[in-house]
Amino acid sequence: MLESKKFYSRLGATFAPGIMNSIILPRPGVKLIRFTGGAYDVPSLPSAEVKRIFEEASPQNWAEMLQYGGTAGMPSLLKELSTFMAGYKIKADPAKEIIVTTGSQEAIDLVARVFIDKGDLIIVGAPTYLQALSAFKQANPKFVDIPIDSDGMDVDSLEGKLKKINAVGKKAKMLYIIPSFQNPDSSLMTMERRKRVLELAETHDFIIFEDNPYGYISFEGPMPTPLAGMDKSGRVMYTSTFSKMVSPGMRIGWITANPDFTGHMIEAKNNISICNDGLSQYAAAELFKRGDVERQIPKVTKVYRKKRDIMLEAMETSFPKKAKWEEPKGGLFLWVRFPKNFSTDEVLKDSVAKGVAFVPGSLFFTKPVHNYMRLNYSLPSEEDIVTGIQMLGRLLKEKLQ
Ligand SMILES: Cc1ncc(COP(=O)(O)O)c(C=O)c1O
Repeated sequence: MLESKKFYSRLGATFAPGIMNSIILPRPGVKLIRFTGGAYDVPSLPSAEVKRIFEEASPQNWAEMLQYGGTAGMPSLLKELSTFMAGYKIKADPAKEIIVTTGSQEAIDLVARVFIDKGDLIIVGAPTYLQALSAFKQANPKFVDIPIDSDGMDVDSLEGKLKKINAVGKKAKMLYIIPSFQNPDSSLMTMERRKRVLELAETHDFIIFEDNPYGYISFEGPMPTPLAGMDKSGRVMYTSTFSKMVSPGMRIGWITANPDFTGHMIEAKNNISICNDGLSQYAAAELFKRGDVERQIPKVTKVYRKKRDIMLEAMETSFPKKAKWEEPKGGLFLWVRFPKNFSTDEVLKDSVAKGVAFVPGSLFFTKPVHNYMRLNYSLPSEEDIVTGIQMLGRLLKEKLQ
């Protein structure tokens, strides 16, 4: 047997398969109800629309799709993305300020590569999106954790931390934030807090990386203006994605930033993927042009609102009284809190053995916190939501005794 370990780079050695990969592997013949990732409701996927787009493509369209394209993205898609973002008050020049990425995950990786050095102070929510933490960790920063409540990041705490950082002669470099229906807790940052974060960024001169995959999935009125729509000095970088609103499999994400920043990120993307997939970009541009994106968002939001309600009702009847949660106003997740001494990491294995998987909350923190659980309601069917929550509720009651 090859002694694999000795060949890994220092960074490569950190990529050992995590808890989720090892536990949640599909097992033949065993049905697993997955309350795990933020996958799309399968019957709602725009399959017919995408099929029609390809059936109607001209030879010239096919040539464009099957050839290498520019690293920043297909011009027709960049134009559509610029128009789409303008609807949310974000101004972005399609020729210089947008890059199409392989999902917003690639945008996160690009930001980690281009902006983070070892030891840089990077501000994140506690909790926050685990795969952003993981991507940032590649560059070895120091995380500054700021608590999140139902109104988003606690801005008073942020201000206090920034003052302490300054007092020791240091500076924070970047804030990573998911203001609208944050992953994992689905909190929605108030407008007042959004404005204060931008003011703090000006005063303390740090850049902001805003991640907005879930803002469109809003159950009560339109999505509040993103920070990028209020940015006056080009310090906000903004990423979003098709994954939650149209299709995750198309892998269409994008990042917008000032042209200096995008220039560097384009060079970095050249090393990773040269350019995005042409078929997917063409289909994405057409979905925008034909109004399919505009129709798809309210359609899928309605499905998710119903699934959220079904999950909430099932939890109300089946979950132990010691479990606490808030009703998500948008997004795809329910975030459940347990008493401090309870560890959901220790429930996962038994839960999977009984046929239900969830994501342990510990993965969303930079420090050891174990008493949370994230539940996804977008993927499982309505029946599976009820069955799975009943099964999980019984197990949690046993464990909490
Ligand atoms: C907050 C956040 N950002 C980024 C992503 C990456 O999504 P994608 O690469 O599919 O666009 C996700 C996926 O769940 C997410 O929750």
